[in-house]
Amino acid sequence: MQTKFWNLSENSDDVFQQAGALIRAGKLVAFPTETVYGLGANGLDSEAVAKIYVAKGRPSDNPIILHIAKLDELNSLTINLSPMAKKLAESFWPGPMTLVVPRSKIVSDIVTAGLDTVAVRLPGNEYARKLIAAAGVPIAAPSANISGRPSPTTAVEVKEDMDGKIAAILDGGACEEGLESTVIDTTGTVPVVLRPGGITQEMIKQVMGNVELDKGLVDSNRTPKAPGMKYKHYAPKAAMHLCRTEEILYICAGTALAKALKVGVVAPFPIGGCVNKTYTSLEDLANKLFYFLRDLDRAKVDVIYALAVPEWGLGLAIMNRMKKSCGGSIL
Ligand code: TXA
Ligand code: MG
Repeated sequence: MQTKFWNLSENSDDVFQQAGALIRAGKLVAFPTETVYGLGANGLDSEAVAKIYVAKGRPSDNPIILHIAKLDELNSLTINLSPMAKKLAESFWPGPMTLVVPRSKIVSDIVTAGLDTVAVRLPGNEYARKLIAAAGVPIAAPSANISGRPSPTTAVEVKEDMDGKIAAILDGGACEEGLESTVIDTTGTVPVVLRPGGITQEMIKQVMGNVELDKGLVDSNRTPKAPGMKYKHYAPKAAMHLCRTEEILYICAGTALAKALKVGVVAPFPIGGCVNKTYTSLEDLANKLFYFLRDLDRAKVDVIYALAVPEWGLGLAIMNRMKKSCGGSIL
């Protein structure tokens, strides 16, 4: 398959119409969101959604988020919209937040992987909303990477994983957030964060009064409620290790350099002789983490050492991703 590559700008109406028509015709189109690039299909067409699982090599028990362009489009996808879901939607949409709600009959089993809930998001990125509006249907979209790889935050990275497998890639520049949306379960009495992201627990608590973190994320004896959180994820090709302190980072990097290895480092400061990926703040790290990991792959490093960050605020989402990237190797 020849994958079309379209650049987006303010004046891309024609491109959105063509891409929307591809979605309606059951084809796959990758598109930018403010978090990461998504791999979109008509969310009401089971055969189209099935193609997403094939293109990504995604396990069939991992449900997919439906993306909408306007808040009231949520109504047809759910039954009995709870006051909790409504308040969260009004507070944080459009934005990097996904709500898990009871699903309505129009949502098919292949989207929800058989669950009786569906995940819905109204993205902050205007290009994403324009595409959804042009398609005229909710767009089912996971991150546009091959399963297990870091999520793509640029169209070129989507191309690395998806060229030849999908109908089109829309290039809307680099994603502003860089980490996937916060997934919140709204089906209980308290909002439960199933995947930490840019909308932090502190922000949710301020609006809702209380919030919990899915116990499956912190207790390895429990299964995470978001099926996708149990898989190995975000893995660069080189072995990656997370270092708890700067001292450990220096020792590890020094030892690897002494063995003549090509060493990648992710830290707020550079280390001499290494391929350094430095950042200035947690926001900057969240924004660039997946890009750093893919860039270190491109540089063909032998090993990656990343410095741990405090696990609160945005740091919780960053550490959640980095722990998965390193397959639990924390030194
Ligand atoms: O920022 C994002 O959320 C990006 C952009 C493209 O919108 N999408 C994304 O999708 O990260 P994906 O498929 O890579 O991750 C969706 C996560 C998975 O962990 C999945 O298991 C979970 O959401 N999920 C989807 N539907 C669910 C449901 N009904 N109940 C619980 N978890 C669900
Ligand atoms: Mg993903």
